[in-house]
Amino acid sequence: MDLKGRDFLKLLDFTTEEIEFLIKLAGELKENKKKGKPINPRTQPLLNNLAGKNIALIFEKASTRTRCAFEVAARDLGIATTYLDAAGSQVGRKESIADTARVLSSMYDGIEYRGFGQEIVEELAKYAQVPVWNGLTDEFHPTQMLADLLTIKEHFGRLKGIKLTYMGDARFNMGNSLMVACAKMGMHFTACTAKEYFPAKELVEQCRTLAAKTGASITLTEDVDAGTKDADVIYTDVWVSMGEADEVWESRIKALTPYKVDSKVMRNAGRQAIFMHCLPAFHDLKTAVGREMGEKFGITEMEVTDEVFESAQSVVFEEAENRMHTIKAVIAATL
Ligand code: CP
Ligand code: NVA
Repeated sequence: MDLKGRDFLKLLDFTTEEIEFLIKLAGELKENKKKGKPINPRTQPLLNNLAGKNIALIFEKASTRTRCAFEVAARDLGIATTYLDAAGSQVGRKESIADTARVLSSMYDGIEYRGFGQEIVEELAKYAQVPVWNGLTDEFHPTQMLADLLTIKEHFGRLKGIKLTYMGDARFNMGNSLMVACAKMGMHFTACTAKEYFPAKELVEQCRTLAAKTGASITLTEDVDAGTKDADVIYTDVWVSMGEADEVWESRIKALTPYKVDSKVMRNAGRQAIFMHCLPAFHDLKTAVGREMGEKFGITEMEVTDEVFESAQSVVFEEAENRMHTIKAVIAATL
């Protein structure tokens, strides 16, 4: 499998086999790291010639996991990083994406980009002469998908046939990406949410076409009991994403509260079910936004109850750790 020089912009650009390869590589890199094994260029030729390279990390939106995962993964591979954000660089305000791409390509071997529209990262990739990795856009979060698929595989020993139910805003990056990931990997995806938060028709159609080939299925339902029954994975995300206006909180809380993940949902799914969340999560009042919404709307949690978040079925921190191993695989495979 040769992915050298490839961009990593969305899972739609990759075959099922290529995605499987990246998950497998991530698993090997994870084992290496856990055992403290040094990199062996003979048995791991992909890791050869990475030391001494440089990558640029552009973050137009905030990040904890994705930034740290890129920085630690790069350091483990002997690669140096430069972090650029909107306030401290010219990106977007004084310099176009096309010009930024050409400048950074002359100094760096790869570029990570987190920001707004998917068309921005696609434009960056078009003008860059080095691999570009999508660290999250409004539409897609592909590095998160690899971490989630690795976590599911570690837990169930397989991906094919796994039933994943996504509750909450299924029109944004996480709902879209999970639907594509399930379609590619032969998994059963259900968006269980209010109608206006279903993923866009066009993407649903595209995923259904993929699903017909892989044995996956795509279901959209407003019915919580039917949508979560016997699910292996119950997945949710914040109800308001980065970049959205503060004014949408009220209507979002109203529309999505029936789709909060609570112990009733987990019981309906069954004992085998795991709870997943890309994080950060509003499961208590220990954050500034959580407290603000708590005071305004008289609530103590949003998309998931603290009980489920802290339960034995919750794998959110394994999932977060896997961001690093999977991002390392993407860097190693494409550089
Ligand atoms: N899940 C995720 O992308 O987290 P960060 O926003 O902290 O990078
Ligand atoms: N939907 C969330 C995902 C964060 C990782 C956001 O875009 O803010």
